[in-house]
Amino acid sequence: MAEQIRVLLTEQEVDERIEAVAEQINRDYGNTPLHLICILKGGVMFMCELAKRLKMPVSFDFMSVSSYGSGTVSTGAGKNGKDLDEPLDGKQVLIVEDIIDTGRTLSYLLQILGQRGPKDIRLCTLLDKPDRRVKKHVRVDYTCFEIPDEFVVGYGLDYDQRYRNLPFIGVVEFDETRE
Ligand code: IMP
Ligand code: MG
Repeated sequence: MAEQIRVLLTEQEVDERIEAVAEQINRDYGNTPLHLICILKGGVMFMCELAKRLKMPVSFDFMSVSSYGSGTVSTGAGKNGKDLDEPLDGKQVLIVEDIIDTGRTLSYLLQILGQRGPKDIRLCTLLDKPDRRVKKHVRVDYTCFEIPDEFVVGYGLDYDQRYRNLPFIGVVEFDETRE
């Protein structure tokens, strides 16, 4: 089935909002070192853009947890991929996600990472679809945009591994009249 991408948030809108959220994080943490955990693969572009604007000492780690196959409906988190390289003991951790949908991924991550002795764990997401939340207790500390319940791509987010490189956020529209 052919699909089209409709722009939801332009590159400029996304960049300006990331700048504002980075300033907020700079204010909140001051000069405290911050350990960023990027959730692969979707969080990569957002983490780079965010990290460029942070002023405290920053370190990076990467982890993957998958809940999606190649479709557009969440099937629940819990499948582990790559684990972190570094321990979390005593660290101020900021989890960087592309999007929070049902909240299952973050709920699971908070549970397993919380057991590794971090001083503090906060969450930062580029996008949030609050209408889709199943795990209501997941508290998001920094959200760039709340969006409606539509399947989006770009800025790291994919549909069947495509479109991650788009510099804007777009909605996938399926054109059922075309092959
Ligand atoms: P959750 O566990 O249901 O909150 O799912 C979160 C993960 O599902 C995200 O990290 C994304 O990888 C993926 N996801 C959720 N919604 C979308 C979307 O609209 N486009 C692309 N990926 C999505
Ligand atoms: Mg993701």
